[in-house]
Amino acid sequence: MHQTIAVLDFGSQYTQLIARRIRECHVYSKIYHHTTRASVLKRDGVCGVVLSGGPSSVFARKAPLPDKAVFELGVPVLGICYGLQVMAHLLGGEVEETDRREYGHSALEVSPRSLLLDGISREIRVWNSHGDRVIRLPKGFTAAAKTANSSYAAIESRRKRLFGLQFHPEVSHTEQGRLILQNFLTRICGCRGDWSMADFLEESARTIRETVGDSKVILGLSGGVDSSVAAALIHRAIGRQLHCVFVDNGLLRLHERDAVVNLFRRNFKMNLKVVRASGLFLKKLRGVTDPERKRKIIGRTFIEVFDDVVRSIGPVDFLAQGTLYPDVIESVAIDGNPASLIKSHHNVGGLPKRMKLKLLEPLRALFKDEVRVLGGELGLPKEVLMRQPFPGPGLGVRVVGEITARHLRVLREADAILNEEMVRSGYYYKVWQSFAVFLPVRSVGVMGDKRTYENVIVLRIVESLDAMTADWVRLPYEILQTVSTRIINEVKGVNRVCLDISSKPPGTIEWE
Ligand code: XMP
Repeated sequence: MHQTIAVLDFGSQYTQLIARRIRECHVYSKIYHHTTRASVLKRDGVCGVVLSGGPSSVFARKAPLPDKAVFELGVPVLGICYGLQVMAHLLGGEVEETDRREYGHSALEVSPRSLLLDGISREIRVWNSHGDRVIRLPKGFTAAAKTANSSYAAIESRRKRLFGLQFHPEVSHTEQGRLILQNFLTRICGCRGDWSMADFLEESARTIRETVGDSKVILGLSGGVDSSVAAALIHRAIGRQLHCVFVDNGLLRLHERDAVVNLFRRNFKMNLKVVRASGLFLKKLRGVTDPERKRKIIGRTFIEVFDDVVRSIGPVDFLAQGTLYPDVIESVAIDGNPASLIKSHHNVGGLPKRMKLKLLEPLRALFKDEVRVLGGELGLPKEVLMRQPFPGPGLGVRVVGEITARHLRVLREADAILNEEMVRSGYYYKVWQSFAVFLPVRSVGVMGDKRTYENVIVLRIVESLDAMTADWVRLPYEILQTVSTRIINEVKGVNRVCLDISSKPPGTIEWE
């Protein structure tokens, strides 16, 4: 069992970031709903508690409050932003309501006597995003730092082991933020830093063996990061009891199926069943142009195909999935404000209940960066671990309008050229996604002495942190020129290449 820090979520957009930063200090962290009882945290044996920020004000009618007993648990508590205000408010201090938000940088003047800020420079730049502020401290607290705007930008009660920061140590704009968190974890909570991916691998493999026993496990391998790492981990644990299934739905990129077969069957020697179902998918998609209908058909057909394979493999007890921590964190809606909603659903892939499979989700405690590190420990190559996201419905949502074998062939060839040039120029790993889109319109061109009337390919290359917002990448003209020239010369059926220069919002990343 690892030492655990509880992060109580008050709906901040940074809650997950706090949890990740703690793990980057090699301390395991877990996100809890802000109403979690202190007795639960005690039962879980947490060695410290962080109260996240949040969009609310302590003066709001339904202000989210923690169980007050959390402050008497006997483990250190660190309140960040709203977390500091709610702590001061509940413990008898005074918070002032302001209608002006302090947003952005400020200079923090650190008290030399602070324990939380011990070792931090006397003055640092910190990142703020708050409305209210503390104007009188609860009994037993002292000021640990101030800014021009607030005498209590950091507060602490060493005796009660309670600490608060008005600013956000978790965001990269705060100087020495990591050091401040590290102080809290190591010096104050006494964490040893016992969270490493190598240990996680061993423990997780043991748990998988114990859970699975002699049963068979089935896993739908897409070739993406999550399912690939889940496959490699489970294979390490139970070898050929794992049965991977790769469905070729006809909507894959050039050579994608071969790459998956090479890596997992040849290299890792996994049980891998490849189902060639492109005919079936394309038949069902014939004549369909509505994007959401396409998605539904592709999803439903996948389940049908997968269901058949499970039957052919014989009795299977477990369905493995690469579900990650952000998919399972409970959502917190403060004041019904959707901006503070984290993902609300647990993505179980939509497989029918009648399959009666138990779920095996060995990555459910991990963030994406951790999954990549784990994948590295398991020997997966960079091309898999650093791969750009690819939508489940594949090229199906990148062929605008009707999906035909010809449209797919044109798109696949154009996309492969873009991909090649992105990798060659080093941009592939720098951007969030780069892909081609097929437009079902024809434009006039001239090739040699002849007029042509061919299709249009759009290049979509975006940068993003989480796909919620995105911007188009200012790729050097030389690369765009090479890609455009190569596509028009090498791909039969294309005479025009366009660049998508829309940001998200209002555009989306995919065209459908
Ligand atoms: P949009 O187009 O909504 O895409 O800006 C955001 C991110 O989600 C991916 N995406 C999908 N992934 N099934 C998926 O598994 C889908 O139907 C789907 N649609 C979009 C998209 O590639 C981008 O990374």
